[in-house]
Parts: sequence; structure tokens; C-alpha cells
Amino acid sequence: FSFELAPSLTTMTTEQDECMGSVKGQLAKLFEVSLKITVPNEPDVEPLVAACNGKFGDYQCNNAMGLWSKIKGKGAQFRGPPAVGEAIKSNLPTSGMIESCSVAGPGFVNIVLSKNWMAKSIQKMLVEGIDKWAPLPPVKTAVVDFSSPNIAKEMHVGHLRSTIIGDTLARMLEFSKVKVLRRNHVGDWGTQFGMLIEFLFEMFPNFEDATETAIGDLQAFYKASKQRFDADPAFKERAQKAVVRLQGGEDKYRRAWAQICEISRNEFHKVYQRLRVHLEEKGESFYNPYIPGVIEALTKQGLVEESKGARVIFIEGINIPLIVVKSDGGFNYASTDLAALWYRLNEEKADWIIYLTDVGQQQHFDLFFKAAKRAGWLPHGDSSYPKATHVGFGLVLGEDGKRFRTRNTEVVRLVDLLDEAKSRSKDALIERGKGEEWTEEEIESTAEAVGYGAVKYADLKNNRLTNYTFNFDQMLNDKGNTAVYLLYAHARICSIIRRSGKDLEELKNKGRLVLGHKDERDLGLHLLQFAEVVEEACTNLLPNVLCDYLYNLSETFSKFYSNPECKVDKLGRLSGRIWKRVDCYYVKQLRWLCENASVSWESHLFTRFDI
Ligand code: ARG
Repeated sequence: FSFELAPSLTTMTTEQDECMGSVKGQLAKLFEVSLKITVPNEPDVEPLVAACNGKFGDYQCNNAMGLWSKIKGKGAQFRGPPAVGEAIKSNLPTSGMIESCSVAGPGFVNIVLSKNWMAKSIQKMLVEGIDKWAPLPPVKTAVVDFSSPNIAKEMHVGHLRSTIIGDTLARMLEFSKVKVLRRNHVGDWGTQFGMLIEFLFEMFPNFEDATETAIGDLQAFYKASKQRFDADPAFKERAQKAVVRLQGGEDKYRRAWAQICEISRNEFHKVYQRLRVHLEEKGESFYNPYIPGVIEALTKQGLVEESKGARVIFIEGINIPLIVVKSDGGFNYASTDLAALWYRLNEEKADWIIYLTDVGQQQHFDLFFKAAKRAGWLPHGDSSYPKATHVGFGLVLGEDGKRFRTRNTEVVRLVDLLDEAKSRSKDALIERGKGEEWTEEEIESTAEAVGYGAVKYADLKNNRLTNYTFNFDQMLNDKGNTAVYLLYAHARICSIIRRSGKDLEELKNKGRLVLGHKDERDLGLHLLQFAEVVEEACTNLLPNVLCDYLYNLSETFSKFYSNPECKVDKLGRLSGRIWKRVDCYYVKQLRWLCENASVSWESHLFTRFDI
């Protein structure tokens, strides 16, 4: 594994020879050395390196133009950006990574990677395991606050998005060795509980008998109690008193509240179970005892002011303040969020706190983060830690371009939605004749893997900020950028490996990977870009970056594998060279990525489908 440096420039230690970082990162280090020599008077220039996959090279350094505008007129010895580029090129340390280097246009320095180095690096990833290529964010503990539906109200598609994206981000950070506290910040506290409790007492004099089956649909129960609340002033008064008694901790009221929460919780759990998402509930009620202390501390700091009867925090440059105590003396969503942030920073010692909600709540988070900065809880710059980030996402739309709803109900019941995805994929399997080949159990679990995977992937593959249209036909298509296509690609590779009869462990340790053909090289390059893609996805909290990578990986693989020179023949014999290494690695990577893109699956799916 050669990583030679020019003798005069051996400022880099041998540790870097062992570097398992991204290709981009390794090249950036080389360019950093070159830039220091090229422009010694500009010590703070960050190397700008990007993958380009163009005809001139695999990577590019784009510093020349910017540098030129910085140094011209300062008596520099260069005549323009191309000359700066030439100098960057010639000052680049010698490295086994680089096959050739050229300067194009206004000073772009193009790098062609050495095939030999690429092959060795892939081999190394294969032998040492993909874990070692995880990015290492400067964070020890992160809170991911996601899903977070409201008790007794509907868990709608917005909560589904929050659940899917949040779970993926949590997995990405967990892969990056961050301790992740997966928090379900359920709306389990608030004035609506007075009405619900009072209605419960009315409907079920022995309210302890009010089980899930007795109550039926908790959403309908909520609606009925709201109607009662609006129509009957006496009921309304009782409901308002009930809130006070609940908040005062009166036993009967606490028990009724706990019971309502439990019924909701069971409902939510059904969705989480299907999606195989794990979360720990710490609802709004959990932070309630911390609110008074937190508000008092903020008041002492002089941050809380009186405004129209309420107590608020003003933020410079923003007209509306953050209300932290309502005019009736009660606490609200923001008071709870402040207390929760305090708790997460001080008790849980989180250094990155990530919130997933639709973009509609952006303003709330913006205000509340600014208040926390004013209080000195968070540093002012967005690049330092501890850090709070709102991860917003767009709406789910129906075919009509409006907010997604089903024919007969106003909101879409998530369980129904997942049922339909499953039954559609089951029909497709039966149509393919799998009914005769597989057991009922196999059909069921495969239909779940494909159906739920399709729903998740359709959500994750778009940039989360854009709205997307929910369409079963599209997401369950086996062609195009869908989970089904990826699952097929994976199944195909497993089949190749199975038919090969090769011992992969032996191949790991002996044998040499050769990137001969162009398609082999393309695939190899894509595999090597894994580390930088995961890093980008984690830094910007964008699962779609991973999905794109995965889809392109499948496409690159298909191209390689259908090429006659690399091909696998009809009998599954392997006539190509590269597969011995790469597709085995590819399987691991694909599996890892699918899992991290939350695409659930059953392993037997991949041993059943054949090429
Ligand atoms: N329960 C809220 C809703 O359904 C989402 C809560 C998000 N988390 C938070 N800490 N505010 O809109």
C-alpha cells in the first residue's frame, strides 16, 4: 500500500498511511500540503476537492480561481488562475493514490486515481469491514426527537415521515459510533386531557373498564368529547376543572389520564412494530416538572418579559416573541420544549439535538433555538457544539396534488396504509407464481419486507424538504428508483455468490483484486466513495444522499455485470474477474445501506429469487 511522499514534504506521519477516511479526505490532505507551498502567505486556504467522474479525472481541486482573486495585485508570481493551477499540480506530494494529474480550463486540477491503489483500498475495506469507514462526527451523544404523535389525536402521514426519516438518521449516527437517544416526544399533556377525562368518566362510570376494545377508536372518542365540550357549558366547566385536578396530581385523574395514554400508546406501537422502529417515549408530561425552574432561571437572567398578559422571550430582529407562559398562567408547547432542551443538555449531556417535524414548525424551532442561544445554553455559531437542529420535511400529497387523504376518512390511518402496501406486494408475488413455491409464512414476510420497504424508500429517496406524491404503483414498481428494484439487485448478487460455490472468507485473504475493464473500474470507484457519501449524509442529515448512492451503485453494478467481459453466464458460472472481490463487498455494502436507509427485508427473500 504505497503512499509515498516527496522527501521534503514528509510532514505527514505514517499514521496517514493507515488512513481509512474518504478518498476525498485523503486527496484534500495532499492538496493542503501543495497549497501551503504554492501560497505560503495564505495559510488558511481550505482545499476544495470534489468528485467529478468526468472524462478528465475522478476528482478535481477547485482552488485556483478563488486563490487567484485573493492574491492578484499582491505581487504574486503567477499570471492567472491556470498558472496557479499548474503550481498546485506541481507542488502536489507524490502519492500512490494518484495515477495522473492535469490542469484544465481556469486552473482546475484533475486527478486520475491509480487503479492499483483503488484495488488495494477496496480489498482493505473488504478485509477490515465496512465499519472502519464510518465518518466520525465530533459528537458523543445525540438526541433524535422523532415520530412524536399526540395522544388521542391521529397519528398522520406527517408522523409517518417523521418516524421513517428519524429512524434513518438515528441509524446513520449509530453507524457513525454516536450514542443516540431515540426520543418519542409524544403530546401527552395539555388542556385537551380535561375534556377527555371528563368524557371518559361520563361514558364509563367504572372508567377502569374502559379498555381499547370498549373505547374503540380513540380518535372518534376525541371527536365526540370535543363536540360535548363545545356544546355543553356545564361539561366545559367540569373539563376545565379536570385539567387543574390532573395537574394537581389527584389520583383518580392521573389514573384516567394514564389509561388514555396507554390506549394511544398501543395504537402507535402497532405502527412502530410493523416498521421495526425502536423509540423510547419521554413525552411532554415528563418535562412538566422541570418547566417552573427553567422559566425562573431564564427570568433571573432577565430574558423573560411581560407582554399582553403573557410572559415571553423577545428575539432581536423578530417581531413575534416566544411565549413561555400563557396569559392564563399555563405552560405551552414552547415551555415544554425549553425544559426538554434544558434536560437534554444538562441531564442527558447530549451534544447534538435533532428534531423531526414538518417544515410548518420551522418558525417555532427557529425562535426557540434563538432563545436558547440568548440564554447561553447553545453557542451562537451553527458549527459549534452543543448544537440543536430542526430537520424539516415537506408534505405527503395525494394524486390530486393536495394533502394526502383517503376516500372515506379525512385522515389516512397509517395501519391501513401499511396493510395496503403489504397486500399489493403479496398480490404481485402470487402473480409471479411464488404461491406454489413458497410457504404461506414466506409469502407473508416477503410481502411485508417489500411492501413496508417500498413505503420507507419512497419517502427517503426525495430530498426531505420537498413534498412528495404518495403512489403505490410507483413505489412498488420493480423498475426505476424503488426499493423493489434494489431488493432485486441484491437478490441477484446473493444468487451469484450462492451459485459460485466460492469460499468468500478465503477470497478475502488470498487472491488479488484487479480493476481491468472500465466498468470494473467504475464500480470500484463507486464503492470507494462510500465513506464520503455517508459523511455527507450524516453532516447534512440527508437520507436521500444515501439512497442516490445506493441506486447508482445498483446501476453501476448492473452495467458491470451485464458486460460480456465481466459477465456471469446463464449457469451462474463466473467468467469475469472482478466479481470475486467486488460483488461480495457490494453485497455487504448494499445490505448495510438498505438497512440504514430503513429498507426492511427478510433474508430468505434473497436466497429465493434467482437471476
Ligand atoms: N407532537 C408534535 C406534533 O405532532 C411534534 C413534537 C416534536 N418534538 C418537539 N420536541 N417539539 O406536531
